[in-house]
Amino acid sequence: MRLSISSTNLKEWSGDVLVVGLPKGEPSTTAVHLESRFPGVSTAISQQAFEGKTGQKLVLNPLADANPQRLVLVGLGDIDAIDLDGLRAAAAAGAQASIGCNGCLGLQLPWDSHNPDHAARISAEAVRLSLYADQRFQKEPEQRRLPTALELIGLPASAAAGLEPVNATCAGVELARELVAAPPNYVTPAALAETAAALARDYGMELTILERADCEARGMGAFLAVSQGSDLPPKFIHLIYRPEGAVKRRLALVGKGLTFDSGGYNLKVGGAQIDMMKFDMGGSASVLGAMRSIGELKPAGVEVHMVVASCENMVNGSAVHPGDIVTAANGTTIEINNTDAEGRLTLADALLYACEQKPDAVVDLATLTGACVVALGDEMAGFWSNNDALAEALDTAADAGGEGLWRMPLRQSYKKGLKSLLADMKNTGPRPGGSITAALFLKEFVSQDTAWAHIDIAGPVWSDKGKGVNPAGATGYGVRTLVNWVCAQA
Ligand code: BES
Ligand code: MN
Ligand code: ZN
Repeated sequence: MRLSISSTNLKEWSGDVLVVGLPKGEPSTTAVHLESRFPGVSTAISQQAFEGKTGQKLVLNPLADANPQRLVLVGLGDIDAIDLDGLRAAAAAGAQASIGCNGCLGLQLPWDSHNPDHAARISAEAVRLSLYADQRFQKEPEQRRLPTALELIGLPASAAAGLEPVNATCAGVELARELVAAPPNYVTPAALAETAAALARDYGMELTILERADCEARGMGAFLAVSQGSDLPPKFIHLIYRPEGAVKRRLALVGKGLTFDSGGYNLKVGGAQIDMMKFDMGGSASVLGAMRSIGELKPAGVEVHMVVASCENMVNGSAVHPGDIVTAANGTTIEINNTDAEGRLTLADALLYACEQKPDAVVDLATLTGACVVALGDEMAGFWSNNDALAEALDTAADAGGEGLWRMPLRQSYKKGLKSLLADMKNTGPRPGGSITAALFLKEFVSQDTAWAHIDIAGPVWSDKGKGVNPAGATGYGVRTLVNWVCAQA
């Protein structure tokens, strides 16, 4: 999408669809300005009782070949209460109401009280992300007329700096959405490896794929146990972004890459959403999406290692038995008391491998527990960290990206729940606090001196109805947070 700042005012702006945000109580005064350009606007506003309440929308189509052909008014609520989320929501609502128009979308919001670069950035992100639709699996996709350019009206020209990372970031989010939405007969472990290979080619990154035999040689018994009930070979994917010039920080991004999670012999039954378990590679989609953005943005000073241990959790005669004891790459033995707690097993070996790269910080993303969804719903991911500075940096990055993120406790005493009679630990603790014991399990596989955070994205990976910048379906959650975080380390 072509993104720019327009220095014209409402009266002179020319384009195809104009979106104007109006605070509550404001319509009458702005209507006067709009009226000279769009005769009849003030009548429509009063006839349709448009008061500028949050979420209110008024769409006017003056004439098919008029300029602009459509005017969209978006309610913003109380002027004093318009925050960045309000701008995002208004931009998203305006963009969605512009579907059906080709050409240039003009957007004017009350920018004044915000940092202009940031306001430009988040509104442009919101517009592009909310115009997304996935038509790959339709025989005859409906022809969608969409704006191909965005002009932000009324911002200083210098705010254009805020637009620079927008397309690269959104392309990463869209890649993540495509990977998550595609079903497990399309997105297999091999397909994720292929996606990483395409990124390596396109952006000159370094790629290593460990096949099953390589993983065996490295003693990755936890990861391989999960994969052994599937007919598809596992793929352990390591993609590296190296900056030009000196490396100041080395970071690792680890993603859970279960391309399907049947639960294994602890099969997902009754309401366990087995049909949605294509999204169990959401963590790997986020880290691949982030790598795409990073490849394009080329931040200086940071080296980024992406690690994904990808496989399916299936049932056949070779599948893991509930009760099996397996050995992770560091020798830790694990009693698999529940085959449906498979993500943490794959992540154990992935985190050990990531720590071998000697990173300054490791962040893992995983659709790890239903318990996290119960705790926080689908608008927020939970996160756990052994390092306050890293936690704060992630909070800031998520905030700037408009992604909900909430820190949760690594309560050590809950580790008792993972005690095994025979092995070093079990993979599953009691149901209460299930997302916390999952995080404590992962912590066992992270070097003590490495800053680490675990982000449980089981809730926000998918949006049934769609909300804000996310159309219904895969959200691409995590990409914006990761990109912001990585670029802030540069
Ligand atoms: N992939 C699931 C987590 C999940 C469940 C994500 C529902 C989104 C929606 C994970 O592998 C899993 O099955 N976790 C179990 C853990 C339990 C057996 C300790 C869960 O959350 O029920
Ligand atoms: Mn599972
Ligand atoms: Zn899973």
